[in-house]
Amino acid sequence: MDFKRNIIITGGAGFIGSHVVRLFVNKYPEYRIINIDKLTYAGNLENLKDIEERSNYRFVKADICDYETMLRIMTDNQVDGIIHLAAESHVDRSIKDPFTFARTNVMGTLSLLQATKVYWESLPERYEGKLFYHISTDEVYGALEFDDTLFTEETKYDPHSPYSASKASSDHFVRAFHDTYGMPTVVTNCSNNYGPYQFPEKLIPLFINNIRNRRPLPVYGKGENVRDWLYVEDHARAIDIIFHTGKIADTYNIGGFNEWKNIDLIKVIIKTVDRLLGNPEGHSLELITYVTDRQGHDLRYAIDSRKLKNELGWEPSLQFEEGIEKTVRWYLDNEEWMNRITSGDYARYYEDMYAGR
Ligand code: NAD
Ligand code: TYD
Repeated sequence: MDFKRNIIITGGAGFIGSHVVRLFVNKYPEYRIINIDKLTYAGNLENLKDIEERSNYRFVKADICDYETMLRIMTDNQVDGIIHLAAESHVDRSIKDPFTFARTNVMGTLSLLQATKVYWESLPERYEGKLFYHISTDEVYGALEFDDTLFTEETKYDPHSPYSASKASSDHFVRAFHDTYGMPTVVTNCSNNYGPYQFPEKLIPLFINNIRNRRPLPVYGKGENVRDWLYVEDHARAIDIIFHTGKIADTYNIGGFNEWKNIDLIKVIIKTVDRLLGNPEGHSLELITYVTDRQGHDLRYAIDSRKLKNELGWEPSLQFEEGIEKTVRWYLDNEEWMNRITSGDYARYYEDMYAGR
């Protein structure tokens, strides 16, 4: 069957990628979606069980750093669009092992860009009708004070962690490929996502799982750092809109206008999990354990996403209370998903991490 478009989504077996793959496979039967994922500790094909048999979906296990393979997949599938999410994504891991982050996030993105360039430039129409869409983070902008300032698209890059430094570098490479070769690119910088299928090393799924298992909840520092939380399906919806209607070479910030101090968010999670498990109110507050702060812990992130709203009409659809309720319910209802994940590499990693405390 001939498809109207052939689109690569990298990192589709991860948290956000799996939501983007699901949205595109369901909404656009006329597109073929090719999910390229190396299946690192964070990649899990179980996240895509419901769509894996669909005729417009294909999974390829591959490393984005492998330039020859990227070029072959693009050529074989006549790829005209790329939505690039594959990355190492956890700040704590980047502090322990920055090389892996430079390899995948910087060199992997570069290898994908170069393969895309070589393939698209070999076609008679070259870059016409093509798009390389790079998914990035608000963390490239650095940290805000406790005031009312927000990151805008004009905020200067000022990354602090090895993770954000590697993402900043990849963003620069994407823009350089537009400016140097004329590749049609777009970059978006999004705030913290939450929702189903997030690997339980990140705050929200880790804490839900620990509360259920009566384990300590390690709060870094005083729990005063602030993050801006967005429900993952709202991010996927923004990606769909920007992929189809975003301006070439532009940048869009995506955020929830939903800032929470960590400790306040943690109390909401505790309250919700306790209520859904039938525990008395306040039952799990005793699990809160203040631990040594993360090195270089950014104080506050907050996104101004008015440009995206004004130019392309996107806004977050879900109120935070509703999003957290849905998320907690999902993790409690999908115990098996969680147990399988926590029995592997993840468990060993955390053993090492907590042994050092
Ligand atoms: P994730 O860690 O859950 O998933 C990453 C996926 O990439 C995994 O499936 C993994 O197997 C795959 N991958 C890693 N290295 C690879 C390689 N070398 N080749 C091919 N595949 C590889 O990450 P996520 O939270 O879903 O984040 C996805 C993207 O969105 C990342 O680029 C991240 O920087 C960005 N982002 C994340 C957030 C967030 O809150 N999670 C916020 C803003 C932006
Ligand atoms: P995280 O989910 O790792 O996302 P990011 O670092 O990309 O913002 O962490 C969210 C916030 O929660 C961050 O300020 C660090 C903090 N945190 C804890 O206090 N304890 C934890 O165990 C984790 C994983 C995070």
